[in-house]
Amino acid sequence: MRVLVTGGAGYIGSHTLVELLGQAHEVCVLDNYDNSSPEVLNRVRQLSNGQLTDYVGDVRDGSMLDQVMAEFKPDVVIHFAGLKAVGDSMTNPLGYYDVNVRGTLQLLSAMDRHNVRRVIFSSSATVYGEPEYLPYDEAHPTNPTSVYGRTKLVAEQIITDWSRTHDDACAVLLRYFNPVGAHASARMGEHPDGVPNNLMPYIAQVAVGKREALQVFGDDYDTPDGTGLRDYIHVVDLARAHVAAVDYSKRQTGAQVFNVGTGQSYSVHDMVKAFRTASGQPIPCVIKPRRAGDIAAMQANAARANVEMGWKATHDLNDMARSTWDWQSKNPDGYDSAS
Ligand SMILES: NC(=O)c1ccc[n+]([C@@H]2O[C@H](COP(=O)([O-])OP(=O)(O)OC[C@H]3O[C@@H](n4cnc5c(N)ncnc54)[C@H](O)[C@@H]3O)[C@@H](O)[C@H]2O)c1
Repeated sequence: MRVLVTGGAGYIGSHTLVELLGQAHEVCVLDNYDNSSPEVLNRVRQLSNGQLTDYVGDVRDGSMLDQVMAEFKPDVVIHFAGLKAVGDSMTNPLGYYDVNVRGTLQLLSAMDRHNVRRVIFSSSATVYGEPEYLPYDEAHPTNPTSVYGRTKLVAEQIITDWSRTHDDACAVLLRYFNPVGAHASARMGEHPDGVPNNLMPYIAQVAVGKREALQVFGDDYDTPDGTGLRDYIHVVDLARAHVAAVDYSKRQTGAQVFNVGTGQSYSVHDMVKAFRTASGQPIPCVIKPRRAGDIAAMQANAARANVEMGWKATHDLNDMARSTWDWQSKNPDGYDSAS
């Protein structure tokens, strides 16, 4: 199939490209490299034999989208392009709505102009907000606590409304839990600019000596060891969920929501312990006060993705820690590292 991937040079996008190419899909990337490097696509090409074309451009640019769709003629679009830092979204709400919501509107409008009827959307478990019960299933009420989460929920609603306007449209809304890990080749992984917002890249930077100690925000939560519990999912498992969603979108119509997690949760201390084992590094920790807005525990019920898309996570905590360490230690400067 011909798959257009917006934001394909990013962390999750790049791993998805390798999985799509591995399944003989023809792939085209549109990315403005706002949070990624063109080097990513060189590495994707080295890891795959398939057909990959790319365009440098912004998903909010309708004429750019027209050019890409006229030339590539996608059967389906995977829409990763977006901004994702919860903290930044609170200080730059308009910027977040602009990219995440207007970007989605522009994409759907272009899809309509070119009769493209299938879309896979990167949503987030943050749309649920404070849990009323755990694990979250897809029917759990949505009440996001950040601007970022609200941009994802609004985009989901727009896509759902769009899907109702065509009998043959299919929209797969994937609510990711906490993606971590790197490709087994250690050629691709996550490399945040500046101070990492997420736990694993932070731990990895402490392990390679880029940062002194891990700051643990709160050890007095109502959890077994007092630190926050999250459902971490290996990025390759997440990438494969997109391949499953592409196949699923062929046999389905309407807007369909899926949690993408493992159904297991680990604490901050569990993650540090696994990383110490994988890296052999001490990883000092400093306990800090809780951060405003942080939730004690999050966990997915991913049964629907298993039953309906035939997808299930297969990587465990050790795979997550080991692959992150391999990537970080071999590429301490991310894609700027000599290779
Ligand atoms: N990583 C996570 O923890 C997580 C969790 C839930 C959902 N998501 C969502 O998944 C998607 C991908 O996340 P990621 O971790 O790979 O992020 P990322 O920042 O690594 O990738 C996003 C990509 O989109 C590109 N991009 C940004 N704005 C663009 C624009 N206006 N036009 C074209 N390209 C643009 C960036 O350059 C980057 O390559 C995002 O939509 C994010 O909100 C991520």
